[in-house]
Amino acid sequence: MTLTYEALYAMIKENITGRIGITEDEGHLLHKTISHGDLYLEVGCLWGGTSILAADKADRVITIDFMMGGFWDSIDPVAKRKPSATHILDNFTKFRVAHKVSIIKDFSYPFPLPPDIQPDVFLIDGGHSYECALQDWNTAREITKRAILLHDFHRGNTHKGVWAMGQEVAMKDPEWELTDHVQSMGLFTRRE
Ligand SMILES: C[S@@+](CC[C@H](N)C(=O)[O-])C[C@H]1O[C@@H](n2cnc3c(N)ncnc32)[C@H](O)[C@@H]1O
Repeated sequence: MTLTYEALYAMIKENITGRIGITEDEGHLLHKTISHGDLYLEVGCLWGGTSILAADKADRVITIDFMMGGFWDSIDPVAKRKPSATHILDNFTKFRVAHKVSIIKDFSYPFPLPPDIQPDVFLIDGGHSYECALQDWNTAREITKRAILLHDFHRGNTHKGVWAMGQEVAMKDPEWELTDHVQSMGLFTRRE
C-alpha cells in the first residue's frame, strides 16, 4: 500500500529516532520535486529524515554528513539526544530504505564523490555559513541535472549566510531559476 505524502511525513515525525529537520510543507516540495527513478543527493543528513522522505520516490539516495562538531559532540537540543551513525542506520532500517541509501561520512567540499555522480535532485542542507552554502551551491550547480533545493533560504532565518548566498549567487545564476519557494525551502530548476 502506498502512503499519501501527509501520512508518510507523519510516520517519519512520529517514529524517527531524533527528528526530521524540515517542516511538512517544505518536505512536500522536496517530495514533489523527486520523480520515481531519480538519483537524489543531499548535504546534511543529521538523523536521516530528509533521506527517508526522498527514498519514498528516488531509486537511489546519497547523503553526505561529516558527523562531527555541533550536535554530534554535544546534543541536538530539539531531539534532546545526540545523533550517531548507528542511529541513522537504524532509522534507515526501520523505514525500510537502507538498501537505497549510501551514507558518506565526509566534508561536502572538496566534494568527496567522483564526477560521474550526477544527481537529478540535490538538497543543500549542510553548513549554514555563507562560505559553506556557496561551496555547496557551486558543487550542486555543476553536477545536478534538474533541481536544487536550498534549505534555510529565508530572509528571517537565523542562518543569514544561506539567505545572503541565495540572494547574491543562486538567484543570479544564469543557468538556474528559482521556481518555487515554500517557507525556508527554495527550489531552483535548471533553465532549458
Ligand atoms: C540541518 S542538518 C541536516 C538536517 C536534515 N537534512 C533533515 O532535515 O533532517 C545539517 C547537517 O549538516 C552537517 N554538515 C554541516 N556542514 C557540513 C559540511 N561542510 N560537510 C558535510 N556535512 C556538513 C552537520 O553535521 C549536520 O548534521
